[in-house]
Amino acid sequence: MIQHLADEKATLSFGAELAAVLHSGLIIFLNGDLGAGKTTLVRGVLRGMGYMQIVKSPTYNLVEFYKVSNILCYHFDFYRFNDPVEWEEAGFREYFNDDSICLVEWPEKANGLLPIADLQVTLHIIESSRNIEIHAGTEAGKQCLTHWKNITDHNV
Ligand SMILES: Nc1ncnc2c1ncn2[C@@H]1O[C@H](COP(=O)(O)OP(=O)(O)OP(=O)(O)O)[C@@H](O)[C@H]1O
Ligand SMILES: [Mg+2]
Repeated sequence: MIQHLADEKATLSFGAELAAVLHSGLIIFLNGDLGAGKTTLVRGVLRGMGYMQIVKSPTYNLVEFYKVSNILCYHFDFYRFNDPVEWEEAGFREYFNDDSICLVEWPEKANGLLPIADLQVTLHIIESSRNIEIHAGTEAGKQCLTHWKNITDHNV
């Protein structure tokens, strides 16, 4: 599935729509260059879940945690991650469990440590706008996209 996102608002709305089909246990990788809109999309997802406070980029501390209603959500940004020892010490593996949704920016920087993604989201910079692409990586991811297709007019 690929869709054009004309501006930041469109990225936020897309994230909010995506939130409707997300559930605990899902792992979502967010791919794309610096400034592609990955954090903006997470902001949209969290807003869609009902979180109305500030969503900051977790670039410096690698992860931010949100509890929205009963949903636990971890937002990772591995851009500055370069030490597998830190992975062990921070206990990151425990974050990826059936009770939480994990959204991961720069997953390639933690290659070999992360579990398989249910959804692979890629943002492409197209001058002053973006294109977004989503692929399922697991059966759970496929079900998510099918569900989305059923409740929206997206051609996923
Ligand atoms: N669809 C869009 N069209 C144009 N600009 C957008 C769009 N979506 C987001 N942006 C803008 O892109 C900029 C960068 O967004 P964001 O911080 O979300 O990127 P990022 O992918 O998380 O970057 P990083 O890799 O540095 O963490 C912001 O100024 C945001 O407003
Ligand atoms: Mg970011």
